[in-house]
Amino acid sequence: MIALGADHGGYKLKEAIKKYLDENKIEYTDFGTNDETSVDYAPIAAKVAHFVADGKAEKGILCCGTGIGMSIAANKVKGIRAAVCANAYCAEITRHHNDSNILCLGGRVINEEQAVEFTRLFLEAPFDGGRHQRRVDEIAAIERGEL
Ligand code: RB5
Repeated sequence: MIALGADHGGYKLKEAIKKYLDENKIEYTDFGTNDETSVDYAPIAAKVAHFVADGKAEKGILCCGTGIGMSIAANKVKGIRAAVCANAYCAEITRHHNDSNILCLGGRVINEEQAVEFTRLFLEAPFDGGRHQRRVDEIAAIERGEL
């Protein structure tokens, strides 16, 4: 299960990603928005982030104009590691190294084809563990106020 969300700036990317998920029979829950009418991104990021943090979705994808607002908001939720990615390398390596559970994309930064490519890379790449597990554990320690 993948959790999806977008504001007006990321709506078109979200729709392109939905088409890719449909074609590949990957289940998703869409938390909106449902058109290009201006809407605030933080409440949508919160819905997706809580859904992922609660274990109801394996990963999430959030799209806004830049991806930045969505990532800042999503990363406020404990257990979320949301990564803004504007290139294919970052979309893949953030899974290998950061065990990122939310991919954030910008509709004013990348096109729909790139969004689908980055989604595929993000969903398919595994976490490498090892020294990267220690680093992810240190991020969790920050959340607990221990670092
Ligand atoms: C909305 O205009 C824009 O600020 C939003 O989509 C996003 O880019 C915020 O980071």
